[in-house]
Amino acid sequence: MIMNNCRNCGNEIHPFMSFGKMPIANAFLTQKQFSDEYKFELQVQFCEKCGLVQLLDQPTPEKMFHENYAFFSSTSNRMITHFKKFSEIVKDKYLIGKDPFIVEIGSNDGIMLKNFAEDKIRHLGVEPSLNVAEVARSNGINTICKFFDENLAKEIVNEYGKADSFLSANVMCHIPFIHSIAEGINILLKFDGVLIFEDPYLGDIIEKTAYDQIYDEHVFYFSATSVSSIFKIHGLELIDVDHQNTHGGSMRYTLSHKGSYVPNMKVRELLDKEKSLKLHLPDVYNEFRFRVEKSRDELFSLLSKIKSEGKRVVGYAATSKSTTVTNFCNITPDLVEFISDTTPIKQGKFSPGTHIPVLSHDVFAKHYPDYALLFGWNHAEEIMEKEKEFSASGGKWIIYVPSVQIM
Ligand code: SAH
Ligand code: TMP
Ligand code: ZN
Repeated sequence: MIMNNCRNCGNEIHPFMSFGKMPIANAFLTQKQFSDEYKFELQVQFCEKCGLVQLLDQPTPEKMFHENYAFFSSTSNRMITHFKKFSEIVKDKYLIGKDPFIVEIGSNDGIMLKNFAEDKIRHLGVEPSLNVAEVARSNGINTICKFFDENLAKEIVNEYGKADSFLSANVMCHIPFIHSIAEGINILLKFDGVLIFEDPYLGDIIEKTAYDQIYDEHVFYFSATSVSSIFKIHGLELIDVDHQNTHGGSMRYTLSHKGSYVPNMKVRELLDKEKSLKLHLPDVYNEFRFRVEKSRDELFSLLSKIKSEGKRVVGYAATSKSTTVTNFCNITPDLVEFISDTTPIKQGKFSPGTHIPVLSHDVFAKHYPDYALLFGWNHAEEIMEKEKEFSASGGKWIIYVPSVQIM
């Protein structure tokens, strides 16, 4: 839905950057589907009143999240470890009462909740994408296949009672009806319960020129400033913040009902830091746009030069983020031969918009290219460790965050 007003405060806002027509980032398709591929105008805007960075238009949730959703959380071993640690913090710090109850939205294939299910802790996953929800269910994770909102929160309270912890990772920034979510959490959380969620952090996106975080699913690009502003309206206060290295730089926000916890000093410090970085002023976003356009031109020139030398380039990891990069930089199959990806549902299909074939990792390993374009830069450490042989055989990596480079 197109929104010319801030989804948080209603203030009138204007786009600072346009990426042109974009497909759904996770809609990998077959050749037959090329002719009626859905596209929308990807534009980002910034609210000077509350600091919330957001899309102008976003496709409807049902267009993005359904029974053929292509993102399976457990494809990354590092993320499995990350969520195990996340769950341990919740268990140690916040699940001290008797028979606690945890709700997670966007629980996907159960990557987080399995850590609670294994300990027989009462839990509920809310996951609208049926195929990933079924994977969780088959692993014994209690999951309902619905979109979370205020009404569902009431139904959950009626059936299960109130929650001790409400968790989400890489989900809150996907949901346009944010006030219904925040009110739902207000209703669902016990007085001393906590909301803990993490999402890609605006400060990192700006600092690293990580423009590929901008795609259909990510309707919001949060900061501590905007998160505070949204949840305050629903009586929820930001009490802790904790920076994470996942997804290229994320922030974990902890909130509680006002008065139930004392906010940590780190909250004030981060709010002050965001002011000093001028994340509340338009100049930052105009400079960002300039750097993004420069990065696009440099990447296209580099790939064109490599092609003119007769060398092979293969994309590594068909991430959601790669859809923004390939479409915005005009990277077509004549520049990138195929994209290697470990997710079965993506293999044998084509990348959204640019129609680059997606093939299994075996194809990559059988005949190494001269260059691998690292679309999964947020998993760089894990990938580099796996691909020592590619590097040892003379293969080179191309990266574009924070700047276009050959490694
Ligand atoms: N938490 C996982 C998955 C993130 S992908 C991880 O970090 O890896 C985002 C997930 O949110 C998808 O599985 C999608 O189906 C789900 N989702 C989208 N809108 C939602 C809503 N309103 N309520 C609950 N889940 C939602
Ligand atoms: P994400 O960055 O949106 O989490 O997407 C991860 C994608 O990267 C997913 O499609 C799986 C793929 N991938 C690989 O192909 N190889 C890998 O080693 C890793 C970690 C991910
Ligand atoms: Zn606003």
